[in-house]
Order: sequence, then C-alpha cells, then structure tokens
Amino acid sequence: GEFEFVRVESDPENPAVAVIRLDRPKMNALNAQVQGEIAAAAARVAGDDAVRAVVLYGGERVFAAGADVKEMAESDYADMATRSRALQDSFTAVARIPKPVIAAVTGYALGGGCELALCADFRVAADDAKLGQPEILLGIIPGAGGTQRLPRLVGPARAKDIIYTGRMVEADEALRIGLVDDTVPTADVYPTAVAMAARYANGPALALRAAKEAVDSGIDADLGTGLEIERLQFAGLFATEDQQTGMRSFIEHGPGQAQFT
Ligand code: HXC
Repeated sequence: GEFEFVRVESDPENPAVAVIRLDRPKMNALNAQVQGEIAAAAARVAGDDAVRAVVLYGGERVFAAGADVKEMAESDYADMATRSRALQDSFTAVARIPKPVIAAVTGYALGGGCELALCADFRVAADDAKLGQPEILLGIIPGAGGTQRLPRLVGPARAKDIIYTGRMVEADEALRIGLVDDTVPTADVYPTAVAMAARYANGPALALRAAKEAVDSGIDADLGTGLEIERLQFAGLFATEDQQTGMRSFIEHGPGQAQFT
C-alpha cells in the first residue's frame, strides 16, 4: 500500500483476506496521520470486491498503545473540538466495513488501540495480551468510541469499572467477560485470525453483509426497528445469485455444500 504507517496487504495463502497492518514503531501510537490512514484503509477494503474478510493486525509485539500521547498533550479544546470527530469517524469507518473483520491482538490494546479492536466483529488475543482504557489516568475519557462500544460488548458495569480505573484487563479476564473471543499463544494470534477470516471469506458476501448490517444497526435501535431492518435485509437477499446457489445446492446435494462465488 501507499500509506506510511498502515499497510493493506492480502494474506499470501488467502488472497481474499485483506490485512490492515499497523506499523508505527514502537507502540503503533495512533497519531492524526495514522487515524487518517486507518480510515483510508477501511474505505479501500470496503470497496474492493476481491476482499471478502479482513484482519486488523499490529504485528507480533503490540496491537496499539492508543492515541499518541505526545501529540495529544499539545492539543487544546479548540483543536480537539475539530479533531475529535475525525478520530471517531476513522474507527466508525472500520466498524462499518461491510465484511467480517477480525482483530488479531498481541501485546497491548490500550486506549484508542482497544477502541480500534472494539470495531472488529471478533477479537483473537494473545494469552498474555493486555487490553484497557487508561484514558482516566491521563485525566481524560475514551474518545474514539470506548464509552459506547465497550458497554455494548461487556455491559455497562464492567465497562465503567474498566474506564473508571484505567486498569489493564488481562487476556483471561477479557475472554471471560466477552471483551475477546479467543486467546491463543502469541505466535498463533495472526494465523488464528486469518483462519477465522478465511472461513467467512468463502461464504456468500451479500448475505454476510446483510447479517452484519442487521446485527449492528439493530443493536442501536428498538426491537421493532431492528426487526424491520432484518426484514428488509432478508427480503433483499432473494434478489441475489447466492440465495439461488444456496437453496439449489441444498435441494440437490443437502445442507452446507454450496460453493459461493
Ligand atoms: C506515545 C507512546 C505511547 C502512546 C508508548 N509510547 N505508548 N508514545 N503515545 N500512547 C512510547 C513511550 O513513550 C516509549 O517511547 C515507547 O513507546 C515504549 O514505551 P514504554 O512505556 O517505555 O514501554 P513499556 O514499559 O513496555 O510500556 C508499554 C505501555 C506504556 C504499557 C504500552 O507505554 C503505556 O502505558 N503507554 C500509554 C498507554 C496509554 O495511556 N494509552 C492511552 C492513550 S489515550 P521512548 O521514546 O521513551 O522509547 C487514548 C485516547 C484515545 O488512546 C482517543 C482517540 C484515539
């Protein structure tokens, strides 16, 4: 890719799996440029039909230690009043990638790093990974979705404890409370995430997209609105080739045999 700190690559063995790779040593601190590159990377994988699933990865040592504190320390209210929307928007662009997205979390996922991982559909973490929202220790609060996406994932009381204390959440606790979905040895984090992504990459792209939109839009809506979103997405899939392929395959060969293109 042409970005400086964020690369978009396809996994060599699974070309339908795109990897958004953060690479800003030492800690993948998320400065304004990285945020912009993340938004551009999200747009690119969202718009590329050859990409069927996505892995977010920060390398073997660290996912991301959060916003660049050295850059942020210089900001005043007027700066942040203009910049804070762009911060949120870049992660919202990741959350809205209309394909399965898996975060491969090694080392630390703190502050904005944790908030980025929260934008994935699933999180695979190293068994020694540490996640958290340490903003309170800097005299601020999470500003890239942490006060909203964390409670939606782990519940309000657990989220408040994590945000109020700023403490690090070890991988085993993260697994227990649903903050991550799997823990594996560090060396297995990336291959496990790619294997998950590859499994979805063979599925029907438009149905996966509809499923993601229905769940994510529905969670923010009342039940009646959510059911209406589901109904429209559901009916819409009857205009797709995948629906024909899937149902014809069931009738001719039995369940789970369909080869989607
Ligand atoms: C800028 C950072 C950084 C950060 C680490 N570094 N985190 N620089 N912003 N968020 C730098 C250190 O200054 C140091 O630079 C080098 O990376 C290595 O860090 P160390 O602290 O020496 O390493 P270690 O002792 O292993 O501790 C790692 C760590 C710790 C636990 C991740 O660095 C840490 O607590 N970092 C801050 C985490 C944090 O508060 N994140 C939330 C930020 S607020 P030198 O040059 O000395 O080697 C936030 C708000 C989000 O994210 C809002 C929207 C995005």
